Amino acid sequence: MLHREAILERLLRVVKESAASRSFFIITQATSFFSWYITATCVQFLTFSGGAVDTKQFRRPIRSFVRREGRMTPRQERALNSAWPRFGVQPEELSDLSKVFSRSNPVTLEIGFGMGEGLLAMAKEHSETNFLGIEVHRPGVGSLLAGAEAAGINNLKVCTHDVVELFEQRLLTASLNKVMIFFPDPWPKKKHHKRRLLNGRVIRLLHDKVVPGGVVHIATDWQHYAQDIKHQFAEVNLFSLQQEIVDLPAMNPYRKQTKFERRGKRLGHRITDLLYLR
Ligand SMILES: C[S@@+](CC[C@H](N)C(=O)[O-])C[C@H]1O[C@@H](n2cnc3c(N)ncnc32)[C@H](O)[C@@H]1O
Repeated sequence: MLHREAILERLLRVVKESAASRSFFIITQATSFFSWYITATCVQFLTFSGGAVDTKQFRRPIRSFVRREGRMTPRQERALNSAWPRFGVQPEELSDLSKVFSRSNPVTLEIGFGMGEGLLAMAKEHSETNFLGIEVHRPGVGSLLAGAEAAGINNLKVCTHDVVELFEQRLLTASLNKVMIFFPDPWPKKKHHKRRLLNGRVIRLLHDKVVPGGVVHIATDWQHYAQDIKHQFAEVNLFSLQQEIVDLPAMNPYRKQTKFERRGKRLGHRITDLLYLR
């Protein structure tokens, strides 16, 4: 009898111990399951844009420029204040260019005009054309405004905004007769090529904004970029290459020499001009 009681007692103890260790096992399993669940939920939340929050909105877009204010001269500063009301346009105004210019003449856009000497000279020479300059470098905008104010012209407007956003959100289809892009930043390092302004997406946007028969004129002093631009245009296959000119002379009917062109020449670079027909 004693022997049986001892066995029962032992059995009871084993059951109790195993129950205790089991609940410990269950608790550890439950803890690890919940920590896995919380981690997995966080990963899903951060990874999939189809989740509760679209993380794309938090990503910074890849831009073709780095905003470096640089030093502003008193002349540029003054012109930005005094001439902006006359020549400056806000992005939202660009959806009606005939209202911006108070007339519906053909529009030529220069993207990234730098200090704006070329654009100013063209605007002075061709009063029948409406010239729009888009540039994010404020000292350059100040220079152009100072020149435009001194020249007293009425056929020039300036917008200081990323042109890609303006193409995507503001400018209307077939609103431009000509687009000029002179010496766009070449972003020579391979890891920076994604920043180049002229890529398939922008070429498609150009096709949307330029009227049929309109022209896109590009100049660069980087041979590799020139090849890349030709490759991108050929891939998109929406424009025809009308003219390719290497080492355009300083005096020519197409455009004025620019600051970056002079710099490129000093470095011994060859200049390529590409004229695409829409
Ligand atoms: C290398 S500079 C050339 C300036 C001028 N065209 C010249 O040849 O002297 C390129 C210019 O494009 C402007 N730029 C680059 N990306 C731009 C963008 N997405 N929207 C507007 N301007 C841009 C830069 O601020 C810069 O002034």
